[in-house]
Amino acid sequence: MSVIRSILRGTGSYLPENCLTNEDLTRIVDTSDEWIVQRTGIRQRYIAAEGEVTSDLGLKAAQAALESAGLDAQEIDTIILATATPDNTFPASAVTIQAGLGIHHGMAFDVQAVCSGFVYALTTADAYIRAGLSKRALVIGAETFSRILDWNDRGTCVLFGDGAGAVVLEAGEGSGTVSDRGILTSHLRSDGRHKEKLYVDGGPSSTQTTGHLRMEGREVFKHAVGMITDVIEDAFKATGTAADDLDWFIPHQANKRIIDASAKKLGIAPEKVVTTVQDHGNTSAASIPLAFDTAMKDGRVTPGDLVMLEAMGGGFTWGSVLLRV
Ligand code: UT7
Repeated sequence: MSVIRSILRGTGSYLPENCLTNEDLTRIVDTSDEWIVQRTGIRQRYIAAEGEVTSDLGLKAAQAALESAGLDAQEIDTIILATATPDNTFPASAVTIQAGLGIHHGMAFDVQAVCSGFVYALTTADAYIRAGLSKRALVIGAETFSRILDWNDRGTCVLFGDGAGAVVLEAGEGSGTVSDRGILTSHLRSDGRHKEKLYVDGGPSSTQTTGHLRMEGREVFKHAVGMITDVIEDAFKATGTAADDLDWFIPHQANKRIIDASAKKLGIAPEKVVTTVQDHGNTSAASIPLAFDTAMKDGRVTPGDLVMLEAMGGGFTWGSVLLRV
């Protein structure tokens, strides 16, 4: 049976120039390199320059993804930006990226699912492509979390960083089996009963301010592994695949302990796990495409590989995407 598949054409990423190490953070809050590394695995993160906004990072990642795809921006008809830190309340920062690419056709919009934003955006683009509404989509994750951090709160400010990653998806034909290239299955979930465990204490309709990130870290940690493994098991069930079939596991990069525990529970071998949290910190919706691009560039992920993506974050929201590169 012939089916439409959303096939990966290219990846790209961008990190701001300013690198903030754990040692640098000890001069801002009462913390230590040892604590941060032991509890999270994070060694450094990047911080956007003054005046450098989310769409600037997203545009650079998008340009890099187009270059790796060998495509001209004019060939793109859909731009979906996953972000929880848009330039403005509106318009969507995706339209700023669209204008930056010189595109005046097609559609551009933002998706907001915090750290799960990229798997939500990828799933949305895949649905549009399979419905025939889009032929080639840029899916971007870009964040400037440094702007919503409370730099007096050592429990959160050491965890997050800024950055962007992007992929280009293109409609192609498949046979409807797991040997197809492209997105094979997606599983998205949310549960708003947990919304106060990880949120920003401001917004246009509530306080008319931007607000700061607030998190009950231990509570988030407690739920993370179970939620992540649930949606990955759903992906295995839907496709008749198993942990051993995976070539790569590219999880959301929040905490090395969560990544390792999830992989262990699922029986995914440690050498198949792509981990970049040590270098980037938690970049929210940007973390998966940043890790993906890192593993494409260094030659780990190659065409034909079966790759599992997953994320969990504020809401709670969580989800998985299984694709063949
Ligand atoms: O991407 C969205 C999803 N978010 C996440 O996945 C984050 C999930 N949560 C976590 O990763 C972890 O809960 C954290 C890394 C945030 C915290 O690790 P933890 O092992 O859960 O530590 P904790 O919050 O239970 O704090 C332990 C101790 C506390 O001191 P007391 O009360 O035991 O005296 C904290 O005050 O560590 C203290 N602490 C710190 N010490 C040094 C908290 N932050 C720091 C810090 N430096 N930066």
